[in-house]
Amino acid sequence: MISVEPTGAVLGATIHGVDLSKPMKDSDLGVILRALGDHGVLRFPDQDLGPGDVSRFSALFGEIQGNPIGKTDAKREFPEVGILSNVKENGLYIGSPDAGQDWHTDMTYRTVAGFVNVLYGVRIPTRDGKPLGGTEFSNMHMVFEALPDDIKARLDGKTGIHDFTKFWDHMRNNRNSPRPPLTDEQRRMRPPVPHPVFLTHPITGRKVLYCNPGFTDHIEGMDRAESDKMLDFLFEFQLQDRFRYTHHWTEKDLLIWDNLGTIHRAIADYSPDEIRLIRRCQVMATKVFDPAYIQIARAAPQEEIHA
Ligand code: SIN
Repeated sequence: MISVEPTGAVLGATIHGVDLSKPMKDSDLGVILRALGDHGVLRFPDQDLGPGDVSRFSALFGEIQGNPIGKTDAKREFPEVGILSNVKENGLYIGSPDAGQDWHTDMTYRTVAGFVNVLYGVRIPTRDGKPLGGTEFSNMHMVFEALPDDIKARLDGKTGIHDFTKFWDHMRNNRNSPRPPLTDEQRRMRPPVPHPVFLTHPITGRKVLYCNPGFTDHIEGMDRAESDKMLDFLFEFQLQDRFRYTHHWTEKDLLIWDNLGTIHRAIADYSPDEIRLIRRCQVMATKVFDPAYIQIARAAPQEEIHA
């Protein structure tokens, strides 16, 4: 039987009692959705999953985004399942070696925003018995609640503009990324898009701060200097230690997180000969704002083991 064991930290829970290689019962999906809203980051330990299993599980949450700036490689089986890895074959990386290695939220650069990321740990580097290459999160429900009242009042009803090219160019210019420059066509494919600065979370019904250093470029209706000052404040505020939680990986972990209620980064603390290989699906919010879908979570029994 499915159960939810919270980490006791500001985010995170472990889900027991489900085999993700098998079809999922609606009632279990409801428990998972509710736990995503409550805990943001869910770990399913010791899962034996191929890329097809990762894809099928991910599709329960919405449409899977393929390659955000190009053609999805149709020759690969399950091309919707991306590879994050520093492994090279014939001198070329087999996947993205530095995806997400600074603070961001996936897919805020799309009109239909991202809902969840689903990652499966195939190879996790360790040193002196300790796992490396963790994924760190910050809790945007808590951040919203802690924001000063005058900032909440100034930002109420405001819109943030999110730009795919901001993160890509930042990684190339400031993080020594091997990713190639974006072509003019790729830039045209991803024009900046608006989202509310404060979003009502579709599962919890509570407000979150929906801005992130990776993609949020400016706030509409403020001049550039005022907007930059406000975003600098928000980016520093949302990264205080009191809101943060790190997932330390074990091989065969399936990790799913709520992109609407968290921001995250991949921690690049391993060297090129310490191998990390993760499969990833990025899932868009094509279902989660539909009240009929959310009903599954509302109907779910509250199953929690407290550690
Ligand atoms: C991501 O940003 O989706 C990647 C996170 C990770 O590799 O830990």
